[in-house]
Amino acid sequence: MGNPQSQPVVAPLTRAAIFLVVALNPGDRQRATVQAFCSDWPAVVRAVAFRDLEGYLSCVIGFGFAAWDQLFGKSARPAELHVFREIRAGSRHAVSTPGDLFFHIRAARMDLCFELASQIMAQLGDAVAPVDTVHGFQYFDDRDLIGFVDGTENPTDQAAVEAAVIGDEDPGFAGGSYVIVQKYLHDMAKWNALSTEAQERIIGRTKLSDIELDDTVKPSSAHNALTIIEENGREVKIVRDNMPFGDVGRGEFGTYFIGYARSPRTIEQMLDNMFVGRPPGNYDRLLDFSRAVTGSLFFVPSLSLLESIGSGAA
Ligand code: HEM
Repeated sequence: MGNPQSQPVVAPLTRAAIFLVVALNPGDRQRATVQAFCSDWPAVVRAVAFRDLEGYLSCVIGFGFAAWDQLFGKSARPAELHVFREIRAGSRHAVSTPGDLFFHIRAARMDLCFELASQIMAQLGDAVAPVDTVHGFQYFDDRDLIGFVDGTENPTDQAAVEAAVIGDEDPGFAGGSYVIVQKYLHDMAKWNALSTEAQERIIGRTKLSDIELDDTVKPSSAHNALTIIEENGREVKIVRDNMPFGDVGRGEFGTYFIGYARSPRTIEQMLDNMFVGRPPGNYDRLLDFSRAVTGSLFFVPSLSLLESIGSGAA
């Protein structure tokens, strides 16, 4: 048997994305609908994607801890799947919020994302209830709404696969990934009151040219210092695809954080460093200007596993 085929976790950054989180409604019929959907869904993605092949439509589906047991039984569970653990430190709070199924829909055009999201919801019908839907857009040169280029240090190609896709460490779930999502809202007035230099010291990169600050000037609390994780002398990376979102009428300016990894521990360690600090107290000052309003962990099975559990063969 070859390697199980992964879902399109490692996809190029796109201009548009929809992040859709839904809850499972109780009931045998509802459960059967979702199980059937698991094997039908790749064909739905193909059908919508075919309407514009240059639209690069892709979709990743993930399952929360409780949903996994309900849908596929407790006997075989991904080794590190659990409910997202909240973190509280000072006034900072990484909240843990509910969610059973997660869809990460990406394309060059929002209409493709919107069409796929509509088809997914139509197929799932009353088997699910919506929890959170965010429409993300690309903002100028891949910047987030606080004005910095976001995604520069993402691993690419084989390094991205190495970072995000499970291998021999959990053989029954090889080809899968873990994904953590968090919706952050920024206090733009407070952020914009800072000088550009102060903002650059918080992120750890220059704003206009996106060059990493030299170690002699970069504070140990910089965002890109606290999110560097080393294990046995090697840097352990994750794959991010953050997207800006917002609602000007409501004064809402946000970043939807999404991180894929072969182990959730890497992202959890980054969050600990950001919220609690490394060492404790030396926290990420980005959090003085940004508040997490959601937080969830999902498991993303390989396509092969999804198909077999969908058809009841697993
Ligand atoms: C308010 C939400 C966030 C914003 C606006 C944000 C923004 C940024 C920016 C501008 C960079 C520098 C450019 C780049 O390499 O991508 C960056 C880097 C990075 N961020 Fe975030 N980020 C956020 C949340 C997070 C969270 C929650 C995590 C992990 C738990 C994270 C992990 C990383 C990592 C790993 C890097 C690359 C560090 C390096 O290798 O240099 N970010 N982020």
